[in-house]
Amino acid sequence: MSLMRDLIATLPDQLLWAAGVAVPDLPPAPEGLVLGMGGSGFAGDVAVAFAAGQMRRVTVHKDYGLPGWAVAARPAVVAVSHSGNTEETLSGVEAAAAAALSVAITATGGALVALAHESGLPLLVVPPGPQPRAAAGYLAGATLRLLESAGVVTATVPALEEAATVVTSLLEGPAEEVSQELADALAGRIVILYGAGPITAAAAGRWKAQINENGKAPAWWSLFPELDHNEIVGWGANAAAHRDVMAVVFLEDPDDPPRIRVRADLTARLMDGIRIAGRVGTRGAGPLARLFSLVVVGDLLSVLLAERSDVDPVPVEVIEKLKGMLKE
Ligand code: F6R
Repeated sequence: MSLMRDLIATLPDQLLWAAGVAVPDLPPAPEGLVLGMGGSGFAGDVAVAFAAGQMRRVTVHKDYGLPGWAVAARPAVVAVSHSGNTEETLSGVEAAAAAALSVAITATGGALVALAHESGLPLLVVPPGPQPRAAAGYLAGATLRLLESAGVVTATVPALEEAATVVTSLLEGPAEEVSQELADALAGRIVILYGAGPITAAAAGRWKAQINENGKAPAWWSLFPELDHNEIVGWGANAAAHRDVMAVVFLEDPDDPPRIRVRADLTARLMDGIRIAGRVGTRGAGPLARLFSLVVVGDLLSVLLAERSDVDPVPVEVIEKLKGMLKE
């Protein structure tokens, strides 16, 4: 067992921790804005998908400062950073505080936790761990609970519990089986993920990032129906070369509208022999469980790809190096 595999196995417990943790009271807000980058920003992607299922709006901001609309819209701002030291997220918190927006922090420590203590900002500390992306259950769960505290979403606790149950059953065998099959078809290739709608969009972004960071390999993602208006043409020239180096995985959800399913089938037929490594469907009932049912398969796949490339999935030295260089 590698360290990253051990960490993936903690995902159900992370989700259950979030279901049970005490959450600070936040002032009510009409919508949510999550600030976060990379593995922490994924918590925002989860919140966007979860809120969409409840006809509510959460926006994720993966950049410096705040989006231009935020000062007038007065969302509940949730800043997520595992280290608590990510400069983009810190700059957003400063901008939100300067505009007197409601800001809550979730982090393991660092400058954000210090700032929360100094300024009396609502704080939800998550348990420490070696890598932000291996804390997706803690970070996404904490973010959802904070957004619920602001009245932006509801029923996060049963959703987290269901997600933990679904991930547990997948970890008992099926996730490994599906990810092994995919790894056979994807090893050594550039992986392209196709999703559609909020749940599989969030999952596609997660798979891409996990293949990048754990697998140390390039990957990209696109969404139906938009990809049918451009990307599908891009497989045309040099198709023979693409066939040898790339492969696509479709991520699918039973709630995908019928026209999306028709598009996926037709697109697969028109892709001129480009390898489709698999079509992976969500499992579970609620949106959060369905999203995490894909997360666990993608996480395992990324570790299998790392093993096949003989790289260690855990360290992300080049990210640390860049962060150091930005401080010089
Ligand atoms: C590392 C990782 C990165 C970080 C990102 C932001 O595992 O996934 O994408 O999450 O560099 O750092 P934090 O999460 O500390 O705000």
